[in-house]
Amino acid sequence: MADEPLVLGIETSCDETGVGIVRGHTLLADALASSVAEHARFGGVVPEVASRAHLEAIVPTMRRALDTAGVTLADIDAIAVTAGPGLAGALLVGVAAAKGYAIATDKPVYGVNHLAAHVAVDTLEHGPLPEPAIALLVSGGHSSLLLVDDLTAGVTPLGATIDDAAGEAFDKVARLLGLPFPGGPPIDRSARDGDPTGIAFPRGLTAPKDLAAHRFDFSFSGLKTAVARWVEARQRAGEPVPVADVAASFQEAVCDVLTAKAIDACRTRGVQTLVIGGGVAANSRLRAMAEQRCARYGIQVRVPRPKLCTDNGAMVAALGSHLVAAGVPASRLDLPADSALPLTTVSV
Ligand code: KG4
Ligand code: ZN
Repeated sequence: MADEPLVLGIETSCDETGVGIVRGHTLLADALASSVAEHARFGGVVPEVASRAHLEAIVPTMRRALDTAGVTLADIDAIAVTAGPGLAGALLVGVAAAKGYAIATDKPVYGVNHLAAHVAVDTLEHGPLPEPAIALLVSGGHSSLLLVDDLTAGVTPLGATIDDAAGEAFDKVARLLGLPFPGGPPIDRSARDGDPTGIAFPRGLTAPKDLAAHRFDFSFSGLKTAVARWVEARQRAGEPVPVADVAASFQEAVCDVLTAKAIDACRTRGVQTLVIGGGVAANSRLRAMAEQRCARYGIQVRVPRPKLCTDNGAMVAALGSHLVAAGVPASRLDLPADSALPLTTVSV
């Protein structure tokens, strides 16, 4: 609807420079520039390289988003920007840009939480999020289960990884298997030709003794080590490593734990909606398994299309639009970039 606010979102927390534009829940533009190719040979994101790339990409990406949406900066009602968590130098580029545009156009600026934005983006595809909902947030830096009562006010953390994030496990296992960075997409592809039941990899924090203290927490470092040991044993024996089977069995172990704990959280809290967000939510097996298992319990699963799961500007605009609609006050113009912004702070 034309009377809904036009909100622009800027994302620069990691290696993607994103500018998204939404009107209400309608996505008008989602421009992206990635520095991922520059990090690939290091096997992980190099913060200084990411910051420099954001600096070079921010203005062209902004122009592309405005052109695609067919609007000008003067038409924008509010600017949202990822204030954290993320890489400090990378966040600073987006926050400084948002402040500059806000001052130049005399528009309000909202500094928002990157993780809450991964939840909010689903509204662009499936409309308003029924609350309460359980959110499973799985990215390169985070793996959390959250209770979402009111996304504009905050979220309640139920559990999180105690070591590696799910995406980090995909990236590390891919490296072990000689697959490129980031590891999620190549493992997802390779696993399609493999046997998910071929190798019995461990399911972290699912034994009864662990569940008492860590019912909704995750652990993926034991799984990563188990994969490394298995691969090393094959190599020592001079046997070829069946990459597709390892990928499929590893992926199965991750998805099994993520979906089992998410469903347990829904059932324990009497919640009927599960929303999955973050880069790992793009995983085809996770999406299929969540659908299948949730159907058994009458839980509705909401997962945005893969392009909206990985980092982008549209997710920031979606959360900004939600905050504007709820009448949440804008941030101060001296809002900080906070690399360790807690999950419980949705806007600063
Ligand atoms: O949310 P995101 O784009 O950036 C962070 O905020 O971290 O997530 C990136 C992570 C990477 O670890 C990447 O390997 C993983 O998401 N990822 C996937 C898939 N696509 C991206 N993991 C599994 N399967 C995928 N298809
Ligand atoms: Zn992210």
